[in-house]
Amino acid sequence: MKGVVLAGGTGSRLMPCTKVTNKHLLPVYNKPMIYYPLQTLIDAGIKEILIVSGPGHAGHFLNLLGSGSEFGVKFTYEIQEEAGGIAQALGLAEDFADNEAVAVILGDNVFEDNFKEEIQSFKKGAKIFIKEVPDPHRFGVVELEGDKVIGIEEKPKNPKSNYCVTGLYIYDNEVFDVIKTLKPSERGELEITDVNNHYIDKGKMTAVKVKGFWSDAGTFDSLLRASILVKQKLNKN
Ligand code: G1P
Repeated sequence: MKGVVLAGGTGSRLMPCTKVTNKHLLPVYNKPMIYYPLQTLIDAGIKEILIVSGPGHAGHFLNLLGSGSEFGVKFTYEIQEEAGGIAQALGLAEDFADNEAVAVILGDNVFEDNFKEEIQSFKKGAKIFIKEVPDPHRFGVVELEGDKVIGIEEKPKNPKSNYCVTGLYIYDNEVFDVIKTLKPSERGELEITDVNNHYIDKGKMTAVKVKGFWSDAGTFDSLLRASILVKQKLNKN
């Protein structure tokens, strides 16, 4: 399986910190934000990772991360010309994926868990990783029937559960055909939630509950929380 880290977007919720740099280069405690999702993929045994970023700061990612040899893996870089959504960014990974399945992680997601088993045992369809949160309206929210996910709503006003979809997804190679059928949402983006609902409708989606801490880091409050969690849980000495 190959890995994809999505690190584009404008970081508008973190202005003015994102005025001259990319959100994913800002620090979460003692490392640039993107180190955490990269490490999650590397710890799962993924050896080839594509980093998708925007045109403004692509060189910074290259300077920071290089070939990947420092991390014991190989990095490849791709540019998303305009901020057209997570699914559009993933679409740019088609050639890189080369008919294999992909583990996709958002560049602002920090996880404590190790996902080696779920990622290495994946065969086909899609898998999402869900987490109970106090503020589900900020995320994609799952509707559950027992343990089964029957639908996802993106940032609903009246969430149907407290479980949100985290920014880690595994897809078989059909995902690239699914992305080609998507229409832009009201905010003008190709939504990853529409990709996921496609797999749910076809009965090809499974969901795993995240056990350890998880945080996004795309707002000032979540960035602060991610830093505190990293200090408390990942840097114990
Ligand atoms: C994105 C997804 C959302 C998901 C979240 C996880 O939201 O659209 O479904 O729950 O990432 O971090 P965004 O952070 O782009 O608003």
